[in-house]
Amino acid sequence: MIKRIISISVLLFAALSSFGQPRLRPDNIEEVIKAMTDEELASLLVGAKESRFEFFEGTAAGVRSIPRLGIPATISCDGPAGLHFYPFRDNSDKTFYCTAFPVGTLTASSWDPELMEAMTGAMGNEVLEYGVDMFLGPGMNIHRNPLCGRNFEYFSEDPLLSGKMAAAYVRGIQGNGVIATVKHFAANNQETNRTENDARIGRRALREIYLKNFEIVVREARPGALMASYNKVNGEYVQQSHDLLTTVLRDEWGYEGVVLTDHGAKEGTVAAAKAGCDLMQPGNEDELERMLSAARSGALTRAELERNARRVLRYIVSTPRFKGYKFSDSPDLEAHARTARKVAGESIVLLKNDGGTLPLKGEEKLAVYGVGSEDFVAVGIGSGHVVTKHVASIRESLTAAGFTLDQPLADYYKDYVRMDYSTKRLAGIMDWLSYESWGYGKKVAEPDVPLNLLPEQAAQNDAAIIVLSRDAGEGNDRDLLDDFELSARERRLLRMVADEFHAKGKKVVVILNIGGVIETASWKNLADAIVLPWQPGQEGAYAVADVLTGKVNPSGKLTMTFPVDALDHPSSANFPSFPQVGEALGGLKKNTDYTEYAEGIWVGYRHFSTRGVPVSYPFGYGLSYTSFGYSKPVVKASADGFTASVTVTNTGTVAGKEVVEVYVSAPSGGMEKPVRELKAFGKTRLLSPGESQTLSFSVPAYDLASFNEALSAWEAAAGTYEVQFASSVEDIRASGTFQIRKPLSWGVNNVL
Ligand code: GLC
Repeated sequence: MIKRIISISVLLFAALSSFGQPRLRPDNIEEVIKAMTDEELASLLVGAKESRFEFFEGTAAGVRSIPRLGIPATISCDGPAGLHFYPFRDNSDKTFYCTAFPVGTLTASSWDPELMEAMTGAMGNEVLEYGVDMFLGPGMNIHRNPLCGRNFEYFSEDPLLSGKMAAAYVRGIQGNGVIATVKHFAANNQETNRTENDARIGRRALREIYLKNFEIVVREARPGALMASYNKVNGEYVQQSHDLLTTVLRDEWGYEGVVLTDHGAKEGTVAAAKAGCDLMQPGNEDELERMLSAARSGALTRAELERNARRVLRYIVSTPRFKGYKFSDSPDLEAHARTARKVAGESIVLLKNDGGTLPLKGEEKLAVYGVGSEDFVAVGIGSGHVVTKHVASIRESLTAAGFTLDQPLADYYKDYVRMDYSTKRLAGIMDWLSYESWGYGKKVAEPDVPLNLLPEQAAQNDAAIIVLSRDAGEGNDRDLLDDFELSARERRLLRMVADEFHAKGKKVVVILNIGGVIETASWKNLADAIVLPWQPGQEGAYAVADVLTGKVNPSGKLTMTFPVDALDHPSSANFPSFPQVGEALGGLKKNTDYTEYAEGIWVGYRHFSTRGVPVSYPFGYGLSYTSFGYSKPVVKASADGFTASVTVTNTGTVAGKEVVEVYVSAPSGGMEKPVRELKAFGKTRLLSPGESQTLSFSVPAYDLASFNEALSAWEAAAGTYEVQFASSVEDIRASGTFQIRKPLSWGVNNVL
């Protein structure tokens, strides 16, 4: 009886206290803000743990509820290659598996924004139907150096390609009515000491390389959320940088969404709120206390509190949860798996195909080597890992494609992987947090496969397939030895298999199942064909089989340079994976406490092509089973920049798609510029042999500008610009010119 009286009085109190109070609607945010106390405003700016688990395990964070004003809790989950969810729940015997889509580097390799948008349309549906409001993807930091551990989540070394693909990614996600979060703004280009590292970057490189892709995605796709990175830029934590979060992001680019921290807490909670960081995530009691006391003391003014809370409330009213969407908990995982396979197939890069080795024709019996043939890596590790019900193996997909695999060899790898998993399970590392859900320790090391049967295998099989796989991810950068470079075991395997099979006139195909660039120059001569699926998601092995059989004609192109040597990247002189010389300056450790971006704008092909440094495979490179001809282009100056068109013809014997890369060489003189920079790109539809398609481009002059640090302005010089239509950054097929009659300039704030 007592309990009943208490619960009735609590309900009565709640009803009375909300009596006459506005309840949040999309059109009364100002009224609600006025009705909020300073403490309520402050509490809204710190994530609430209870909302994180209020719904289900696996959510990353949540925004606090304020029931008396009709403000519901809302939740976020990771990405970016699919929803990062735990598939089991205490209160349910249903499973909640998610689709592991291809990773960012692979989907960007399609150079097809429409394909990207279709993929994230499916991904965003999973976010919606599993009841999540904010999706923590895309990851889109520039590939500054091949050894950054999280490159697999990111798109490219080039800011235009990265920005355009990110914009397509965001459109697909947000087309489902959920919120995409572009991350990690900005210059989170290494994992070593990522929460404290100070990225010291010149203003031109910052604007032209590390901010430019975020500028493109903000202007073109209007993401609802942006995650400030952990690191500092030029001495200031990004999450506390008014220059970055307000002056550049909002005042210059017109960003209207919410800004949240990456997940962790720093002392400068109030400084972050003042700078324009709206939401501390995941949020803890200390941060809440700091925010509340700042509200009470006036260290955070009411205007600042209202400004940030307004952006959080605008986010909340845009969420499915606020709108009362009844999510099904049953997304169409089979349809999404088909999408994942199609996207992977359209993105895989063919690096080598001597003598028409591929597609395999008539080679019915295959000897498949490499632990990756069984332990195929679908997605890298960390918050970007996806727990999916099944990751297809190369053994499985080649068998399904009708090939007969050398069974003793297949059994060897199968048993080895099973033994490895059972050892790990017995060792107790198979707990969710470190293993299944984050993928740490999931990768099986390459065994010393017994090669005594190699002569027999070479005699009995028609071709050899060697899978080289790598795993890496959040929290650690990669190593030079046994990671970027092949291990001794891998090199031995490659050499011996090539010797035996070539001696019998049989082909060797290498599959690179990797999350980041590896060394290829020293061994690629041993392979007749090299296929690069990167980490292609749960159905990626089937996509590889589709390419090997010719069911799919590969059309992917590299989004990052494959150097001859990792040290050829100028950034390697200032990257933690490389042995450094010189003492720590003033007690600070180079490339750990601070990293000098001494290379400036000379990142990737901008360096290699301008300075003529040989590479193993250039930016934008990728082969096809057919060939393409380019017409004489039409290039014209427009009222703002230039327009261009070029006709591509399939001059080969099978249907295929061609990516046309449009580079611009600026007039000589003035600021030093790369020999050419990517300014547009397009992909043909599937062209039958002899069929043509005309691709048209329109590029505004602003996109041609370089950043003049002294004047804090973007400048496009007057003069003759050469427009190059290319199949890679080193394979210019056609070109034309246009004039800019008078120098153009766009001033920005003198900040950073
Ligand atoms: C991690 C990652 C970020 C992720 C977040 C939530 O530290 O840096 O990408 O979205 O925390 O897991």
